Amino acid sequence: MKHQIPKGLFDIQPSTQAPKDQWRSAELWSSLEQTLRRLAKSFNYSEIRTPIFEKTELFTRSAGDTSDIVFKEMYTFEDKGKRSMTLRPEGTAPVIRSLIESATLHENPIQRLFYMGPYFRYDRPQAGRYRQFHQFGVEAIGIADPEQDAEVIELLHRCLSALNIDNIQLHINSIGSPQVRCNYCQALANYLAPLKGDLSADSQARLEANPLRILDSKAPQDQQLLKGAPTINEFLDADSDRHFKRVLHLLEALDIPYHLEPKLVRGLDYYNHTVFEFTAGELGAQNTIGAGGRYDGLIGKLGGQDLPSIGFAVGIERLLQTMLSQGATEPAIDGPKLLIVPMGEEAKCPALKLASQMRQEGHSCTLYLKGKKIQKALQYADKIGAKHLLIMGEEELKSQVVKVREMSTRQEESFDLEQLSSWLSEKL
Ligand code: HAM
Repeated sequence: MKHQIPKGLFDIQPSTQAPKDQWRSAELWSSLEQTLRRLAKSFNYSEIRTPIFEKTELFTRSAGDTSDIVFKEMYTFEDKGKRSMTLRPEGTAPVIRSLIESATLHENPIQRLFYMGPYFRYDRPQAGRYRQFHQFGVEAIGIADPEQDAEVIELLHRCLSALNIDNIQLHINSIGSPQVRCNYCQALANYLAPLKGDLSADSQARLEANPLRILDSKAPQDQQLLKGAPTINEFLDADSDRHFKRVLHLLEALDIPYHLEPKLVRGLDYYNHTVFEFTAGELGAQNTIGAGGRYDGLIGKLGGQDLPSIGFAVGIERLLQTMLSQGATEPAIDGPKLLIVPMGEEAKCPALKLASQMRQEGHSCTLYLKGKKIQKALQYADKIGAKHLLIMGEEELKSQVVKVREMSTRQEESFDLEQLSSWLSEKL
């Protein structure tokens, strides 16, 4: 029986055959991860890693049980102790849970953290939407100032420009304080109630439970009806309005262009004040590359101190797909610099020892164990980008030397082990 990967999942492999699958190449993933890590550290964010699954109530309590993520998309299972567990659909709630649990915030209520890893959502798979996907995210905790909002947005903007992604658009809105949000929900429900029969089935259900979610609906009839709906900006109180205007002013000062998006509310219930999304045209229907917002009440709601916070997450798949569709080049192969070629059984053990010695001296190397044909070994060296071939044949074993072939010049020279070490240190 041939086994197949479950729907909506994908493998990351050392090399991919088809150009359309190039975004799944492991070399691209690791160089992207390195760049993101470096950028986060340059903004003084430290890494945090949390488990892949958590107790289900963490997500129902934080994202809201009427959000699509909780309502439709969670991978929830009962463990052998009959406890309900969920594969993490997002990273914010686990990070906050971890900080509250370790009491870190009592000692240091200002935290800047980043994370990277797999997340899980049961949704209809399509280009740019997977059931296991990967996020790079940050959370800035403890600062309520609009400057913190601007810095977080700048970090996401910098990530995209460091990866040479262009044609991106920042969409931004404020959904105000929890009270503003509550007043607006009521006004939206009042506006939509007489139109209920014309809404999509999903939106009819949301009208009672959480009318704000209707703004995220992609159904054309809902979008049509929403055209005349009140927008949340009309409901902002003076503090929320001042905060938002300051964020916009700071973005202008940082030269980050934005589009005001009065209907942007985001699909998770924990947000308030600033919410934002970056889109890229190349992604088609799933065009949001990264998104986030402020979530000032969440830490308190999950049992911690009442600290303000803001963060974002980008989808790594969407980052890579955008980079490639915009013509980003393949990364240089960063393989071993030396290929050690034992010519026959006798030479294999000394070759293994030579490889071990080379690695201890700091040289990256690998063994060629597929036979004695030097031509094949040369082709392989080309493929992995090796700079030198270290050949050990009968002759070399007898005279205790190693024959070195420089790949670029094709010149060959023999060295004893000591000479070899110092020659290579100069060359590599
Ligand atoms: P989110 O908007 O649900 O936010 O996800 C952020 C990003 O993850 C999306 O913009 C998208 O690029 C990627 N993404 C989401 N679902 C999928 C999927 N099924 N397949 C591929 N990519 C996907 C959050 O998760 C929040 N925790 C962000 C945040 C952090 N807010 C504050 N702090």
